[in-house]
Amino acid sequence: MANHAFADLVGDEQVFFTEYFNKKPMLRKNAVPGDPRDILSLRKLDQLVNLEVIRPPYIKVNLKGDGVPEQGYSRNVVVQGQTITDTVDPEKIYELYRAGATVTWCSLNHIVPEMRDFTRVISEKMAVRTDTVAFLTPSAKKGYPPHHDPVDLFIVQLEGSKHWKLWNPPTPRLGNNAQYTLEGLGEPEIEVSLQPGDVLYLPYGTPHAATAEGSGSLHLSIMMRPRMWRDLLRETLDDLVGADVFNEYPHIGEARAADVEAVFKEKIHELVARLESVDTSAELDRLADLGRHLPGSSKGNTFQAIADMDDMGPASRLRRGKAPLAFGEDDNGRTQLTVNGHKIAVPTPIAETLAALGPDASITASHVFPGVDELRSAKAAQGLTRLGVFELVPAG
Ligand SMILES: [Fe+2]
Repeated sequence: MANHAFADLVGDEQVFFTEYFNKKPMLRKNAVPGDPRDILSLRKLDQLVNLEVIRPPYIKVNLKGDGVPEQGYSRNVVVQGQTITDTVDPEKIYELYRAGATVTWCSLNHIVPEMRDFTRVISEKMAVRTDTVAFLTPSAKKGYPPHHDPVDLFIVQLEGSKHWKLWNPPTPRLGNNAQYTLEGLGEPEIEVSLQPGDVLYLPYGTPHAATAEGSGSLHLSIMMRPRMWRDLLRETLDDLVGADVFNEYPHIGEARAADVEAVFKEKIHELVARLESVDTSAELDRLADLGRHLPGSSKGNTFQAIADMDDMGPASRLRRGKAPLAFGEDDNGRTQLTVNGHKIAVPTPIAETLAALGPDASITASHVFPGVDELRSAKAAQGLTRLGVFELVPAG
């Protein structure tokens, strides 16, 4: 799954963004290359449900249109003498599934590393928060009545098949949840029996209804939460009102002074002036970056990074780290550096090496400290890497 690309979902990106994105539903037959079960399979869900760490609401169960209370499928598990009261009981889940329940696996990207990698790919592209939810529906059971969701969706059929009806989004499009009747919706825009590897795109607000066929159905729903202008403007405002000039506490209660209104007006003018002078290109980049790093797709590799640093030698290849760095004056052969706000003094030859190293350049640890033997140079490089001044260039 980690190797799956955005294009596996959307096909030609340009066609997707000009014709379908945020406009109308799209169907792509046989879109996913290879075996779609590599993304997620019944086998994998069997393993997960038996892990003993899965708790509601990571699994939700819906029987005959109603949510089954969590107590109906959870149990106690004892870990090192401590009781965890609400882990999922696999036998009860299986029993409910046999009885015709739909089992929903929420935010799988919190649990399955490959899903997390996939949501990262999508979040990078769309600059929004992405979550993956898997729906397991027994044969010929209606999942949910016709409705629309407040999120953009990619539906990837993984096992079995499901019959879908999609209608174009109504106008105006509200970012809400809503239910429909089949009679009220009329003829669907797309009607399809979705087979493994097929992909659907539903812009937010697209009415849809789905029924499992044959042996039941497993599909993945990739949910992207739209960021409306109001959401983006809120972020921008939030950033602007953080300025010191707004950091005063006016009394606005009954005993408020006569000039409070005038000061309020002044603050509004100040805010408007700040809004007017926003660098829109840089601000959009900042907002996009915020969207890419919302929860659900972040990546951590700190344990591995620490182990790699411990293993550093003279031949290790380094580049400048992301830590902000400022150079001070030379003082008796030592130069003061400010790294991430911390001050350290390093031998001046090291400071010169750092100053000369371009943002895209790399260097071996043995060359960090000119004029000393390579082991000493590597030792100094290791210390600076721990501080974030350098980072290791991955091998290969
Ligand atoms: Fe839905």
